[in-house]
Amino acid sequence: MGEMIAPKGLAGVVVDKTAIAITDSEGVLLYRGYRAIDLAEKAHFEDVAFLIVNGKLPSKSEKEAFIAKLKSGFGISEDINRVISILKEKDMMRALRSLVSMYPYRSKDQDDLMLEMASKFPELISNAFRLSRGMQPLNPIEGTYAERVYYLLTGKNDPKKARYLEELMILYMEHEFNASTFALRVTASTLADPVSAFTTALATLKGPLHGGANAEILEFFDGFKDVQEAIVYVDTQLQKGEKVMGFGHRVYKRLDPRAQFVKMKLRELAGDSKVVKIAEAIEQRMWEKKSIPANVDFFAALYMHLLGIQEDFYTPLFAASRVFGWCAHYKEQLSDNKLIRPDAQYVGPTGLKF
Ligand code: ACO
Repeated sequence: MGEMIAPKGLAGVVVDKTAIAITDSEGVLLYRGYRAIDLAEKAHFEDVAFLIVNGKLPSKSEKEAFIAKLKSGFGISEDINRVISILKEKDMMRALRSLVSMYPYRSKDQDDLMLEMASKFPELISNAFRLSRGMQPLNPIEGTYAERVYYLLTGKNDPKKARYLEELMILYMEHEFNASTFALRVTASTLADPVSAFTTALATLKGPLHGGANAEILEFFDGFKDVQEAIVYVDTQLQKGEKVMGFGHRVYKRLDPRAQFVKMKLRELAGDSKVVKIAEAIEQRMWEKKSIPANVDFFAALYMHLLGIQEDFYTPLFAASRVFGWCAHYKEQLSDNKLIRPDAQYVGPTGLKF
């Protein structure tokens, strides 16, 4: 076969098939054929996780069995808590990546192992945060998956806020061949175990051009006294040729449907407040100046802030949702595997004498 030169960053290149999700530049996002926005509005996290992992919505008994399976993974051993206490890692993505990389995996069914690991993410993050700051881990509560997550991250049992969080978690769950998922598929294609694949995915999600973006928004946003200051910030960044975090996307060139949904929810939470006004002014300015839409992370950071969630958890929370997409992609990659190994165009020297 003749050599093909792919565009930088593989932009616009279709590298494989997937039946898990589809996105397009106009703002379509389907999970297994359903609009992700509808699922966020009407379904529970457990239903959508089942759908993503198994390809269909669960029956009542399938849902019960799935929830029981997730629950069987709850709980962090004393040994792991000791490791967390020794690590004292203050960056929760580093902590999560390290802890997942140590996960024992031999002699376990791979599908069970992936769900078990996925169900531990919220507690791993919560314990890592608390133990590294001299606080005791929280005892689990009964409730939906989102209620449990909300409690683990805030210490508050608040079903209403947990439901708001659940909507965002559903939208964070899956996004076809995004960078972390593609990295996971590369690792899976070598027939490496799920622990290694999840570790790869976590390491990739951490970067500020991907999942790490949501942890950078408040940093600049918090400083704005009013709309005018925010506009000056946008203009200055653009003049300097620098990026405004939370804007732009490889696929969505006109709108990110997740961002628009979270913005609507933000209005529900905060009304016509200063935060909302400033956020919308920044969005409008970015569109006027560069025709670049807000991505989900821009509004998600403000949304999580209003829900009382600490900034340290923003990217790990993204991971705790996306991990169910990773489970599905690991399985899909192995169901029709070919080693992912592209070629490179060599541009270095040749013929040097040693
Ligand atoms: N702020 C200002 N300018 C931007 C931004 C931004 N956030 N994003 C893209 N641009 C500009 C680039 O400077 C470039 O301009 P030019 O053509 O004048 O040089 C043009 O838009 C194309 O940008 P690329 O970075 O080449 O687009 P790409 O598709 O490779 O990048 C990416 C997508 C990485 C998300 C980019 O938009 C970005 O860096 N955004 C900020 C980080 C961010 O918010 N990441 C989260 C993504 S969503 C997610 O992972 C859930």
